[in-house]
Formats: sequence, structure tokens, C-alpha cells
Amino acid sequence: MSAPAISPADYEALARQRLDDQAWAYLAGGAGDELTVQANVGAWQALRLQPRVLRPTAGGHTGLRLLGRDWAHPILLAPVAHQRLAHPDGELATALAASAQQAGMVLSLQSNTAVEVVAQVVHAEPQAGPLWMQLYPQPDRGFWRELVQRAQAAGCEALVLTVDAPVSGARDRERRAQFRLPPGVSAVHLAGRPPAVAPPVGPGRSALFDGLLHAAPTWDDVDWLCAATELPVLLKGVMHPADAREALRHGVAGLIVSNHGGRTLDTAAPTALVLPQIVQAVEDRVPVLVDGGIRRGTDVFKALALGARAVLIGRPQVWALAAAGAHGVAHLLRLLRDELEIAMALCGCATLQDITAECLFDPSRP
Ligand code: FNR
Ligand code: LAC
Repeated sequence: MSAPAISPADYEALARQRLDDQAWAYLAGGAGDELTVQANVGAWQALRLQPRVLRPTAGGHTGLRLLGRDWAHPILLAPVAHQRLAHPDGELATALAASAQQAGMVLSLQSNTAVEVVAQVVHAEPQAGPLWMQLYPQPDRGFWRELVQRAQAAGCEALVLTVDAPVSGARDRERRAQFRLPPGVSAVHLAGRPPAVAPPVGPGRSALFDGLLHAAPTWDDVDWLCAATELPVLLKGVMHPADAREALRHGVAGLIVSNHGGRTLDTAAPTALVLPQIVQAVEDRVPVLVDGGIRRGTDVFKALALGARAVLIGRPQVWALAAAGAHGVAHLLRLLRDELEIAMALCGCATLQDITAECLFDPSRP
């Protein structure tokens, strides 16, 4: 029997033992040389904390208010497609874990479990955090509206529009492993949809730009979604302050700084380095969240110190799910929250508002 996990990273080793090479390539891999996958992790690690002593922290807590509701803590499960690759319980397990740990959960459009089923699990727990649904822009507006209505009817509290993946990245690791979805694992929300067919491309034209991307999403799709729903819409995958300012003009309720965990554009900057630029561009007008490479409670703390209101966890939830199902994901969330609380106590922060850039070591500070 393997040793129990006592840190988030322990789950990665346990998951590797359980998953076959194909699932591992999909779940762990990224684009190209996976430099952004690594850099995301490294950039949080490279930030240094500057502890404070003897400050009163009695009565401290990790609670916050965000998008009109109270949250027990700022740690959400990121949208991760095809969770049945990791565990037969798939999204049912992550939903159970998130609700038991009062964590927000973002269900992937490409989940193997329908939003109605996930919502039932989440809403059975009175203390549960919010369920959000992630969407990709759909060229068929009628179908897109159906998805929006399903998410609303299921009680989702926000929609997350992922805008950083109009094409899939160059996923070398997946192609080397000849990854394909095994039988029984499918994107249930897209069942029966015709596969995207690119129009024929003339000689000398680009199969990418004139073929696959002929109907690529634009800001018009953001406007359409914001008009199609009363729910708050967050844009996921914003990495440039100019895009952040544009997003504000289109009425989004929040931004998620993300490079898709290094799965789209390799050598994209790590999110820890981009976050301060986006926070500055947004000037507190909407909340900014972040994901990518967050592996420890200290990383959560650093993200908040740089101005994020909350963080999303991608691969570590997959590792915990593969290793120990719902129990593993619940334990992972508890570990991250415990580590965040310890970091807060040692930096003299009783509440999340106390976590500021002052908590980060800055050699130029007098
Ligand atoms: C993802 N991610 C993702 N994002 C999204 O908007 N919709 C999706 O369906 C998926 N699917 C998905 C599958 C897998 C296996 C992974 C690892 C990631 C990206 C995800 O939401 C998040 O942005 C990153 O995973 C964050 O980086 P870390 O925490 O994995 O380093
Ligand atoms: C991925 C897609 C599903 O990252 O977003 O695999």
C-alpha cells in the first residue's frame, strides 16, 4: 500500500501509478515543449513571502464575498474536461468533494456528467459553494442558448466563457501517446452535435485561418452571451491588459487570468507574472481570478497578494481524483485551505483583505 498523501504533490505521484500512458498524456500534458506548464508552477514558487510577527490574528478566517454571495474560502475547482479518464465517478466525485469542502466548482462544457446531475449533488449540500458552468462560444446560437438555459435551470450561479482556445494547442505529448477518448467517455453536453466541419480551403490558403477558424469567436460572442443571460459572465483566458480593458467595455462580471494551464500557447507568460498587469488594468471594477500552476496554499496566498480575489485549481484536482476519488479531492481542497490559513497566520493576516503586496518580499522596499 502506498503512503497516504500529506501534500498536494503526493497526489501526483499516486495518480501516475494509476493512470495509463494515454490518460496521463491528456491530463498532465500541455502544448509544445510544455515550457508554460512548468513556468506557471515556477513563477509562484519564485515569489518570496516576507513574514510578519506578533500581529493579532485571533478570529481570523478565509471567508470572502464575491459576485453577490459569501464564500468560505477562495479556492475553486477549475473546469477540467473528461474527468472519467481519471476516475469512474468523474465529475460526480469532484462535485461531492467541492460541496463538502464549500469550494466553488466550475463544470467543464466537455464534462462526462450532465450539469443537471452535477447540480443535484452540489445543491444537496446546504453549505456548498457555488456551481458555475464553463462554455466555449458556439457558432450555432440556438444550441448555445440551449446550453445557457440548461446551466441556468440547473442553478448555476455564473457562466465562464473560455476564450483562449479557438484552436487546440500543439499537443505533442498527446500525439506521441496517440491519445484518444476511450469508449464510454464522451462530452455529454455535446452529444449528437455534428463535428465541426471546416469549409474547403482554396490552394495557397491557410487550412487554419480559412478553414478551422472561419467562424472563430470574437467580441461579438461575448456581447451575445452577456445579453443572453442574467447570470454573471466571467471571461477565462485573458492574458493581456488591453484585452482586460476591452472585456470591461463588453460588460463582463469578472476575469480569469489563465493560459489554460499551458495547454494552448507554449511559452505564453506564466500567470503569476501577468496577474499584476491585469489587476492594474481592471482598477477594481470587476473581480480578477487566476489559475495555472497553483500547487500550494502559499501559492493561493501569493495570488491574493497580487490582487486576485480567488484561484482555480486544475491538474491537482485530477491527481487527487485519480488517486482517491471524491475523498481525495475533498482532502486536497482541505489541504490547500489549511496551508492558506497557516500562511495567513505566519504573515500576520487575519482576513483575506489583509493579504497585500506588502506580504511579498521586494528587495527594493526600504
Ligand atoms: C483543462 N482546462 C480546461 N479549461 C476550460 O476552460 N475548459 C475545459 O474543458 C478544460 N479542460 C481541461 C482539461 C485538463 C485535463 C486540464 C489539465 C485543464 C484548463 C483548466 O481550467 C485550468 O485553466 C488549468 O488546468 C489551470 O492550470 P493547472 O492548475 O492545471 O496548472
Ligand atoms: C483541454 C480542453 C478541453 O484543455 O479545454 O483539454
